[in-house]
Amino acid sequence: MSSWPRVPGIAFGGDYNPEQWPEATWEEDVAMMREAGVSMVTVGVFSWALLERREGEFDFGWLDRIFDLLHEGGIAVDLATATASPPPWFSRAHPETLPTTKDGARLWPGSRQAYCPSAPRYREAATNLARTLAVRYGKHPALVMWHVNNEYGCHVPQCFCDVSAAAFRDWLKARYHDVDTLNSAWGTAFWSQHYTAWDEVVPPRSTPTWANPTQQLDWHRFSSDELLACFKAERDAIREVTPDLPITTNFMGAFKPVDYFGWAEHEDVVSNDHYLIGADPAPHVHLAMAADLVRSTKHGAPWVLMEHSTSAVNWQPRNLAKQPGQLARNSLQHVARGADAVCFFQWRASRAGAEKFHSGMVPHAGADTKVWREVVELGKHLKALGEVAGSRVQADVAVLFDWNAWWAVELDSHPSADVRYLALVRDYYEALWNRGVTVDFARPGDDLSAYRLVVVPALYLVTDGDAANIAGYVRGGGQLVCTFFSGIVDQDDAVRLGGYPGAFRELLGVRVEEFFPLLEGDVVHISDDDDALRGSVWTEALHAEGADVEARYVDGPLAGWPAITSRRHGDGIARYVTTRLDEAALEKLLARWCEEAGVRAPIIATAGIEAVRRRGDGASYLFVINHTQQEAQVQAVGEELLSGRTVGDSLRVPAGGVAVVRETKNTEK
Ligand code: GAL
Repeated sequence: MSSWPRVPGIAFGGDYNPEQWPEATWEEDVAMMREAGVSMVTVGVFSWALLERREGEFDFGWLDRIFDLLHEGGIAVDLATATASPPPWFSRAHPETLPTTKDGARLWPGSRQAYCPSAPRYREAATNLARTLAVRYGKHPALVMWHVNNEYGCHVPQCFCDVSAAAFRDWLKARYHDVDTLNSAWGTAFWSQHYTAWDEVVPPRSTPTWANPTQQLDWHRFSSDELLACFKAERDAIREVTPDLPITTNFMGAFKPVDYFGWAEHEDVVSNDHYLIGADPAPHVHLAMAADLVRSTKHGAPWVLMEHSTSAVNWQPRNLAKQPGQLARNSLQHVARGADAVCFFQWRASRAGAEKFHSGMVPHAGADTKVWREVVELGKHLKALGEVAGSRVQADVAVLFDWNAWWAVELDSHPSADVRYLALVRDYYEALWNRGVTVDFARPGDDLSAYRLVVVPALYLVTDGDAANIAGYVRGGGQLVCTFFSGIVDQDDAVRLGGYPGAFRELLGVRVEEFFPLLEGDVVHISDDDDALRGSVWTEALHAEGADVEARYVDGPLAGWPAITSRRHGDGIARYVTTRLDEAALEKLLARWCEEAGVRAPIIATAGIEAVRRRGDGASYLFVINHTQQEAQVQAVGEELLSGRTVGDSLRVPAGGVAVVRETKNTEK
């Protein structure tokens, strides 16, 4: 195991695809990289076809020259294993490695990622290429990190072919040992689904109606594990050759098919790709949430922002260009939330191919552009922030996040199709973001004792052990907010009997006898002091059995019934919310709950001003990001690192700007 960083300060760079350009461009590339202060580039992500021209015939000439050129220029290399897209010769020679959809359609080569993760031939060839690259470049002085594959599962998260079906059966055998145990875990007494032999079990391919839910859930688990097995095979081959170099693979934030919490422990350093979604009303909140999630997968260790964009992407229906200043604002937001490397897709915008209208660090229009000037300026900013590297983000609040619960809660044939896991997580995350509160994400089984407040959105599936861990947090004095549709099923998606919310009934002091979901767009009101708060999506018939009723429904199918409850356990409190609260309701209630829990924000909350604190080696760094159109003023004392100015008491942050203060006095409120 080897850790990041290998590049001093905050690393800066991006994906570099020199093979798309004539060699004459390469020297100019390195000169421009130096001008911008680029310190690390990722090479080779999609280079398999040009590295292995035919099975076992390698052409390393061009990559050798690139390595040397970069090294002479003082630029470090994060070398990709190039295995994300097998070349056409490979697919032709081994057609059984092509992926198959749920409906049995084969996906052909000609774009990228056309491989089945379970195909032995693919794994063998990918591992061989990774090993060959490690042997060839392992000792090159430019090499600082390994980048295995690329965005596992991005286009083909699951393959339904016969090879995958056989691998699924092996995975199930390891989990259940015999068919009877599988029958009972999957509840196959239902709809004549009983299996008598392993060979009868298939993936949840297109079926006449809903496939067995536990089969679907296990398929999610299996598919994430199969991709992980691909990663591990390459990682192990590389590690044997270069045991001292850190190994990563790039995540995609809250990406449903792959359980990143489960993956992070197998990586030396985690890295993430983040792109703004144009249609998102608050894309900077989406960014913050992705950054916090990825940091949390590795328990707060510094991470690598492997990709984001200098301006527009090419894959949304309408691709927004970034406003002046946005490139720095986005980049430094990631640094505020723990990134110790800021990289882009990609160095030079491509001339050809499906991504030719995707922005790059060097745009089609060249150096006399807003993008290039901002890239160069960012390089200076990151240099000025070098001492921040290694420090850690401070958070008082944890939001529980669990891929198993996500997979299970969004299965079909449920009480309401409107219970969307990420939307509910985002509701609470955004309300906390609006209060200026920094959040970690945590798994339900993690040690939660350091957090003043823990939020549990729709933890529909929970194991007994995890439920006990959450209860232990409250009994130890912790404050909890748990939403509807939590604690409902066990690890096999079997309902916990005796009243909802099964696993949390005792902790919350409630018993729910029936769900009353709402029609799309319907709203219910809840009495709270003199206000009427609004909820949607869900209500439920709840009996308080030990809990205090904090608020009741005023209207809707359950007028007069409890809507929000709380139960004290010594100093701890377990709160329960039975509906999807709207923004105003969450703002009001979270203000109250944060106050009661003593949750601190780095600065007094101000609309559109994001503040995050990183601490390390006795130093404390306050990042302030102004997302508004007006200058902001916040309290801070210390030195502002981007300008080198001393801040006496009040820090001015220009409209759309960023400031980073090495604090001499903690102005924490
Ligand atoms: C990522 C991918 C890159 C590039 C980028 C475009 O998903 O890893 O190779 O395609 O998107 O935004």
